[in-house]
Amino acid sequence: MTTTVGSRANGGPQEGVAGLEAIMRHGGDGLRDLMVRTELHLERVTARAGAPLASHASATVTAGGKRLRPLLVVLAAESAGGPPSGADGEERLVRAAVAVELVHSATLVHDDLIDGARLRRGNPTVAAVAGRRIAVATGDLLFSRAFAELARNQDAAQLCALSDASSALATGELLQREDAYASDVAVERYLRRCELKTAALFEAACRLGALTAARGSSALADGLGAFARRIGLAFQMLDDVLDVSGPVERTGKARGTDLLDGTVTLPLILARERDPQLAAFDLASLDGPEQAEALCERVAATGALDEARERALRVVAEAKAALPAILPGGRSVLLDLVADSVVERYR
Ligand code: IPE
Ligand code: IPE
Ligand code: MG
Ligand code: MG
Repeated sequence: MTTTVGSRANGGPQEGVAGLEAIMRHGGDGLRDLMVRTELHLERVTARAGAPLASHASATVTAGGKRLRPLLVVLAAESAGGPPSGADGEERLVRAAVAVELVHSATLVHDDLIDGARLRRGNPTVAAVAGRRIAVATGDLLFSRAFAELARNQDAAQLCALSDASSALATGELLQREDAYASDVAVERYLRRCELKTAALFEAACRLGALTAARGSSALADGLGAFARRIGLAFQMLDDVLDVSGPVERTGKARGTDLLDGTVTLPLILARERDPQLAAFDLASLDGPEQAEALCERVAATGALDEARERALRVVAEAKAALPAILPGGRSVLLDLVADSVVERYR
């Protein structure tokens, strides 16, 4: 394959992320081909959205995401017998993978606006470049293109899976705002937010894969969905650890962004249990990135980052342990590697 795909010249969709590259190698030409087609389709969909939003939508989509969710769609489908034979079966799978990544991209554009984030994947966010109104409209456009793509598959169950995840995402973001600057966020409440905000879309990715596959049953969609939900939960927990541990060169996002915008995540919740001065500290009094950085150091000094990381690793281990029963006969290998890649990113 010699196609140049956006910023991913020749290397395939997961270039630069070691665990995901291993999956691409194991998956062989068939997997690489489906991911490259997903990539090209994503670029086509955003490019033809029309001025003035197409440029922001395209820039968002081609800025170098890991493509973890489309990969889950494709791997879930492969584990359920692959797409039905013929060009149309593969087209339907690619459209589902594209739709999930478009919803993910839409939520990132809106999320950065809500979180006041200036950096995404190492680049200025749409809101930072073009302002609030354009960021709202770009996110809306990406959402609407996602559902337009999936509608072409003419399957109500697929549309329901994606719209349920989108509704969960919106609810999760709202709960997070409700909890902003709060001094008493419980671990259970935090985990619920992560389930809604992040795990639901991971679940939808695997459900869509199973629904587009030749031998995908609803039992298999449930099983794979439950696996992906655990992985998504751990992914968000680890992302929240990274927000505190940094550094920006590794994450592409400013350190302490969550703390600065009042988002109370697991590291802070656990650190408050360990350090009375931190428990008494009012997050709303935090003033600027330097103070946020100092607060990150203080949280890290309590050991809360290690505990949060360990909790997330336990969730991944549970998901991995359940996988062979969902996919017997060695069919779970690649999804197992995805679970490993979620952890690997945070070592
Ligand atoms: C970022 O997701 C948003 C979270 C759920 C933490 P990713 O880390 O998968 O984002 P990209 O697409 O690879 O940039
Ligand atoms: C995840 O939450 C974003 C969505 C699921 C929309 P975060 O706010 O933690 O994600 P980042 O850190 O901005 O990527
Ligand atoms: Mg954010
Ligand atoms: Mg984050």
